[in-house]
Amino acid sequence: MSQVILILNGPNLNLLGQREPDIYGRTSLEDIRGLATARAESHGLKADFRQSNEEGELVSWVQGARSAAAGIVINAAAYTHTSVAILDALLACGVPVIEVHLSNIFKREEFRHHSFVSRAATGVICGFGAQGYELAVDAMAQLLKSPKPA
Ligand code: DQA
Repeated sequence: MSQVILILNGPNLNLLGQREPDIYGRTSLEDIRGLATARAESHGLKADFRQSNEEGELVSWVQGARSAAAGIVINAAAYTHTSVAILDALLACGVPVIEVHLSNIFKREEFRHHSFVSRAATGVICGFGAQGYELAVDAMAQLLKSPKPA
């Protein structure tokens, strides 16, 4: 059976394509789901792609990964900068984590420069738009083949 990568998306990412396209691009979240799923399949992996506007739901999904996924790719969106609860869940999840952002958060307002998620992530991909999800899936496939020390 294929290994599963859980790909989680936080608040407002359901609006991709319409939301601030100058920053986030014109690709919809459904299109990103398609890109990430195809890329996972090309590595013999299965993508479980989800979005929620609610912090607690994201925490529960991260907790569920412990038994159901080989790794997590997460764009926690605004919760990246605020959520100790998501950080704690990621620290406890027991599988590798890769953080992704469409925009280059370091080029933007100062409050976006700090990420709680990064403390739990093996690596961060940001600034490549929708393609960042494909890069994150490639990186996860590599990590699953040859795990890195946390
Ligand atoms: C984002 C960057 C965050 O700062 C922002 O709150 C988002 C999207 C990104 O993908 O660039 O909602 O995570």
